[in-house]
Order: sequence, then C-alpha cells, then structure tokens
Amino acid sequence: MAGEALVREFLDHAERLAGARIPDLLAADPARAGAMALRVGPVYANFARQRIDAATLATLGGLAGHVRLSLALRALVDGAEVNASEARPALHTALRSGIGRGEVARAAHAEALAARGRMAGLVDGLRASGVTDVINIGIGGSDLGPRLAVDALKDFSDGRFHLHFVSNVDGSEVQHVLRGLDPARTAAILVSKSFGTQETLLNGAAVRDWLGGGERLYAVSANVPAAEAFGVDPARVLPMWDWVGGRYSLWSSVGFAIALAIGMDGFEALLAGAAEMDAHAVEAPLETNLPILHALVAVWNRNALGLPTQAVLPYDQRLARLPDYLQQLVMESLGKSVRSDGRSPGVATVPVVWGGAGTGVQHSFFQALHQGTDVVPADFIGVVRPAHGLRDNHEALLANLLAQAEALGNGHAAEDPQKAYPGNRPSTLFLLDELAPRSLGALLAMYEHSVYAQSVLWGINAFDQWGVELGKRIAGELLPALRGEGEAGDAVTRALINEIRARS
Ligand code: F6P
Repeated sequence: MAGEALVREFLDHAERLAGARIPDLLAADPARAGAMALRVGPVYANFARQRIDAATLATLGGLAGHVRLSLALRALVDGAEVNASEARPALHTALRSGIGRGEVARAAHAEALAARGRMAGLVDGLRASGVTDVINIGIGGSDLGPRLAVDALKDFSDGRFHLHFVSNVDGSEVQHVLRGLDPARTAAILVSKSFGTQETLLNGAAVRDWLGGGERLYAVSANVPAAEAFGVDPARVLPMWDWVGGRYSLWSSVGFAIALAIGMDGFEALLAGAAEMDAHAVEAPLETNLPILHALVAVWNRNALGLPTQAVLPYDQRLARLPDYLQQLVMESLGKSVRSDGRSPGVATVPVVWGGAGTGVQHSFFQALHQGTDVVPADFIGVVRPAHGLRDNHEALLANLLAQAEALGNGHAAEDPQKAYPGNRPSTLFLLDELAPRSLGALLAMYEHSVYAQSVLWGINAFDQWGVELGKRIAGELLPALRGEGEAGDAVTRALINEIRARS
C-alpha cells in the first residue's frame, strides 16, 4: 500500500481509534463539527461523524502524498494512460472542461465540443418534430447515468418529451415500455459504446421492428460502422470514444436523453457543475480537497475499521437512483483484487455499495443499520431548498435526515439491551443547496474523483472491468444448448437446462 512507516502509523491510529466513540470525539473538540466541514460550490460536506481525528487525517494525508495522489489526479485530466490494462487514458473530465493540459487532453476536449454541437442539432431537430416519446436503450453506464439524471432533474424539464428507459434483456421491460406508446410519435436512442452488448442489440432490434424501421432511430457509440449496419442513419449516430469509460460517460453524447429532458442549457449546467469539481479536485490542497477527503475516509473505513459495505442514503426521492448509479461507479471501478502491477493490494478493496432514498428506507432496512451486528458507514445526501411548495413535508424530510445521522452516530443507552442503540456508526453528511443540474454535476464528479483517488491509494485500475467478461462468454456458449442445439455447461447447468426445456 505505501511506505512501511506510514502503514505502521495507519495501524497505530486504527488501534487507537478502535475504541473511540463518535459522541466522545465530538465532545473532545467543540470545533470539530465546523472544522471537518467543506464546501465546494453548491456541495457542502461534513465529515465530523466519521471515526477519524486530525492526527489520523494527517497520516492519511501522508499516504496520499506517498502515492502521489495530487500528481495522479493531474495525470488523469492530462490524458495519461491511467487505464493501463487497456492502454488508454480515461478522459471523462475532457467531456466537461478544458482543464487537461497537453495534446491528448486538448484533442479529446475538442472532439467532445464538436460532438456536443452535433447533439444540440439533433435535440433541436427532435424538438421541431412530432416526436413526443423517446426511449433510451442501453445498459450499465449507457443507462444508469442518463436514467439517474433524467429522474433527478425532472423539475428542470419543460415536459416536451417523455423519456423512457429499457436496459434489461428481459423482454417484459421493453414490452411494458412500448405498451401505450405510438410508434409514429416515438424515437429511440441506442446507446452502446461497443455496439456489441447483447441486451442493447436485442432490445434495439425489438424497438426497431416496432418502429417499422430505422427512421427515428438514433445511436451513441464508439463503433459507428456497427451502428450504421444496424440501420441507423450516420447523420443520427453520435460518437463515443475508447478514452471514456461507460460508467463515466453521462457527460458525453450518452447524455443525449438528459439533454432532451432538460434542454442543452440544462445539460451545459450539469457539465459546468462537474467542471467546477474537476478544478477543485486538481487544484485544492490535500487537506481541503473534498473528493480526496472522501476517498481517504472510504479507505479508512474499509481498511482500518474493516467495514465491508457502504450505504448511500439520499434524502430526496429524485435521487432514488443514486445508489444504483454509484453501485456501478464504485463496484465496477474498484472491484479488483489485483493491483495494476500484478501484485495483491494486501488489503481489502471495494466495499459493497447499497442504499435507497429516505425516508422510505427508514421503514425497511434502517433497523439493521441501528441495531444490526455489522456497522455500515453511510453517505447521507440532503437538499436544502426543495422544488415544491410543501414546506411541512420538506421540513419533516430534513428533520428525519438529521435525526438518523445523529441516532446512528450517538446511539442511545437503555436498561433493556433490546432497546439500546450501540451508535458509533459513522456517516458523512452532504447538503446540496438545491437539486439542480449544476449541483448534481458537482456531486457526481465528486464521487468520480473519490473513486479514482481510492484506486490510486490501493494501486488498482479504476477503468477496466475484466471481471464481467466470463459470464458474458458462458451465456453465449449456453444459448445454443438452451435452444436444444447440443450440450453445454457443467453438470448443474445441464440439469437446469433440461429442467427449463422440459417445462417450456
Ligand atoms: O458489463 C460491463 C459494461 O461493459 C459496462 O462497463 C458498460 O457500461 C456496459 O457494459 C455497457 O456497455 P456498452 O455501452 O458497450 O453497451
């Protein structure tokens, strides 16, 4: 992980703080609640309820220095080959800002601007047409980002289009979406960086047939010839590039659905919010760098406290899809047990990310957060100003958000142990001034940079995902056997295929 002395320091702090209690940490330092808070543009974050103190943060800062985290962030935006196993840069920052220095980053930014210009033209064309409904067909990064942003920013939509999403290869999803739509007034966007993803191609073919041809088909892909061969007019194919990872791509033409929902001005504001966070991530010193602090706390919780999962708890129904989105961003990026240099990281890496929107989840899994045997660190996310006028509802929502974070941290003693709350469950509390394109862009970019910083601390590649290939290959081999053409699979799979075939 890093220099031996630093690792020893890290472990000393872990031992020292193993018994530390959050209420005691707060009581010991009256300034802590303010001192461990940061604001970057529209995003405020408070780390005071993490089981960490100034000395630990200094050691973690030492680790960040040891792995040259600031230089690594610079290298990312400048277009260095940070995705070594695929010999590529990861230039999602070039999609939203000109912060990258050097030819590679500048060329990427220029291409991104040109593609955005073309996308704006297609948005205008669709607005001027009779199309009322648009279906985004994609999966993983070609679905989760646009789906999240369209949902989160629905208060910024003028309602010109109804957006629909199809991702699962389960035909019931596409069938349910098509039910009730008029093919003459519907357009579809096939979003697939590779244009080789089984789910997207099958759903795309079903929608193309339902539309009666490719006239209102659009595509976003790095594989333009395949999109054209599928029947999409080249004038309606927007580019993607191998220098953008799928889970980092909503800022590219993959965000076409977002631009249709909130207009180009809204989309530009989303990018501007992300660009603001990029500048902060690259320029702010370690001690006041929000994504770096978030990453250091994540590594601390995983490695020093040994906490295996991480909850994401937005207290805003519009952000209900944030846990799904972050599951891919974090778990596909950090789900590695081999470092980029082929060695073992020597410590646990990715946490299991899960969660849901408050207050609903208070009535489902919060019991386990409060009294379960596993401690689950949480990111709470609240929004100060709502987009509705139901003041009583909003105050109740915020009161619940604050109450839960406090209850998890402080706990509550009781004579009856069944009624006692152990507390000492760490959380970070984020507040957005309002849920708007700019603040959403800044928040998502914060998570992207935190994930990258964690990958640097662990020495793993955040931008490949070799672990998803094997299942895809085996599924391809099993398809003929499921159709009765020969045998495939191990003994259990063969028994299951027989069972399925006997009953279908
Ligand atoms: O299954 C992994 C994955 O490659 C993701 O990383 C990606 O976001 C998703 O599949 C979709 O890929 P594509 O955009 O190429 O269809």
